[in-house]
Amino acid sequence: MITFALPSPYLYGIGENTHDSFVHNLEYKMHPIFARDQPPGDGEMNLYGSHPFYMVSEDDGSSHGVFLFNSHAIDVTTLPYPGLTYRTIGGGLDFFVFLGPKPEDVVKQYTEIIGRTMMPAYWSLGFQLSRYGYNGTSEIREVVERTRNALIPQDVQYADIDYMDNQADFTLGPNFLDLPDFVIEQAVGGLRFIPILDPAINTEKVNINYTTHTNAMDVGAYITWYNDTLQPDGNCTTSSSNSFPDFFKSETQGWWKQELKIFHDKLSYDGIWIDMNEPAAFDTNKEKPFNYPPELPPWNLICPENEWDDPPYITLSASRSATKRLSDKTICMVGRQGQNNEHLHYAVHNLYGWSQTKPTYEGLQSATGKRGIVITRSTFPSSGKHAGHWLGDNTSRWKDLHSSIIGSLEFNLFGIPYIGADICGFFETTTEELCARWMELGAFYPFSRNHNSLNVPPQDPAIWPSVASASKTALNIRYRLLPYLYTLFYHSHTTGSTVVRPLYHEYPTDLRAKSVDTQFLWGPALLISPVLIEKTTELKAYLPSDTWFDYYTGKKEATSGTEVTWNTPLEKINLHVRGGYILPQQIEGLNTKLSRQNNFTMIVALNSDNAAAGDLFWDDGETINTVTNHQYYYIRFSYAETLNNDIAVEGVLTMEVQTNTTSLTGLENLKMDSMSIFGLSKAPTSVDTGDVSYYPDNNVAYLTNLNRPMISNWKVVLHFD
Ligand code: GLC
Repeated sequence: MITFALPSPYLYGIGENTHDSFVHNLEYKMHPIFARDQPPGDGEMNLYGSHPFYMVSEDDGSSHGVFLFNSHAIDVTTLPYPGLTYRTIGGGLDFFVFLGPKPEDVVKQYTEIIGRTMMPAYWSLGFQLSRYGYNGTSEIREVVERTRNALIPQDVQYADIDYMDNQADFTLGPNFLDLPDFVIEQAVGGLRFIPILDPAINTEKVNINYTTHTNAMDVGAYITWYNDTLQPDGNCTTSSSNSFPDFFKSETQGWWKQELKIFHDKLSYDGIWIDMNEPAAFDTNKEKPFNYPPELPPWNLICPENEWDDPPYITLSASRSATKRLSDKTICMVGRQGQNNEHLHYAVHNLYGWSQTKPTYEGLQSATGKRGIVITRSTFPSSGKHAGHWLGDNTSRWKDLHSSIIGSLEFNLFGIPYIGADICGFFETTTEELCARWMELGAFYPFSRNHNSLNVPPQDPAIWPSVASASKTALNIRYRLLPYLYTLFYHSHTTGSTVVRPLYHEYPTDLRAKSVDTQFLWGPALLISPVLIEKTTELKAYLPSDTWFDYYTGKKEATSGTEVTWNTPLEKINLHVRGGYILPQQIEGLNTKLSRQNNFTMIVALNSDNAAAGDLFWDDGETINTVTNHQYYYIRFSYAETLNNDIAVEGVLTMEVQTNTTSLTGLENLKMDSMSIFGLSKAPTSVDTGDVSYYPDNNVAYLTNLNRPMISNWKVVLHFD
């Protein structure tokens, strides 16, 4: 046990566990860190991953971070002094301190140590649809067609465990035998496909020549007991016997990659969704009911009594579990892992999901030859190098709409910026109003996926006209802004900066901004303020002291540094652009294959000096390692005015290509065709190219027919006299 005094009560991070607010409550809240199949709910619960990292931000804005590099179960207690106590049940006390002093510097320094995020495929920034409980390929087809007919953009379709035969990895069930043809057919139009995989391998299918299992046995891929016999598990989602691969072994990694390859030859997937990798095993340690039918598979796993499954300090995660043992809902701590069985599962439990992620990413890339994307449920520091994450099995409640912002902000601190929650909620039945608001907010998650549970009504956005309309509007804006979002990922990949950003990162001395978790930023420049409360159309929000423009009208907000109220009808999410920034955009399309062929446009939002700057990263969106191989364009934009006796005579917008490439990225064929300039206080009399119109009520100039190439330098000059 070790206690830290903190220099300030503004404490953030520590995960993965349920938090009611982004800035921590310091009234002795104990947060368990231990990977378990634990849906986010109420109270301080441990969830799927382990992130013993926090950041503290002082009143003067100085911020620092502390990372405890330890994979054991840990309890962290907040203290009002302010302070923090760690209790870990093993390993070393290796603390890394990051001195910032800016909040963004802290995240950059932390990710420099643990590893920077992967560069997601461009298409993976598009909208995605999923559910647990599709009854066959035909239902998937219906959903895709319904979405397309409603003109809602969609880039990715998922299949959950329903597609498998008997819930066995790398197989297709009887209602999904035509799934491979559907995937090939849809790929022509640009739809991508991601199937789920659970780590537990169904060992009962051995009777029907289940080669995934026999191949695993051949290489000794599974976790064993202390005496080297196979550690079985009664059930994990399936009602069959399973065994868990030990991804610490190189043989297991090789086997998994090979299975991914064989599967890709059958079903040409574009990304992989790895789930239940805490690892999750239902009902472990629960007594067998006296009436358990003999025809069912063997009853679940009961771990023998030992000091690892029942350590002297049992931790909050175990004490709150059904069986009060660490192995509740997972496998026995006394199992052995590692190349030479050198680790107790007890010591590496929190690394299970992490150990599966890298081989999955490598297997995906070698099977597809493309960058792709992996989504993983269980994460550990550095998982962001190979995957993104979703926030797990939330519930269709307004409360969960709010907590999705807290979770997304935290995972950006943890170096896993590709993050989002199940839009419209996983458990329980959503409502039309909640789903409309959630689709609007979800359009601004870096990972934007609507996903639903078994045995509840469908909630894909085309189901209700009001949700379809709200989704279309919000997603069209997302698709327009994808060049900006992709550029933020490039910065995250190369410098470690966050993508979804809390307000205090940009306004570290603003004490009010330090507690805001109902609004967030995309990078430094786009403020997102959703409605999170039922039957509300008047949103009270906070605008940090700065120049802000309404995204929709370009009009400058009259006040800032204070609370504001915005009328926000059901079909609207508030968006504001920060003065001083240029946001590159591209005309939207029904998916990124289409939108990437459209011309560019941009928003130039002027600051109080009548200046602005921005940038654009662009590559072909899916080749592996384009950054290290210099197969990309990097472009800077700026706007400045030339003065004569303090009076602006010219406004010059400059585009400069900083990094050129010989690779074809598609940008060669595209043009910058229009732009909006926000905050232009006087009307331009002429422009040297194209046309200009000026709206004096909002101080917005709209330039069209610019027809400027995207891969060479140019200027657009506005004249004011
Ligand atoms: C887990 C996942 C969920 C998935 C379900 C069935 O609960 O978190 O997303 O739908 O398993 O595979």
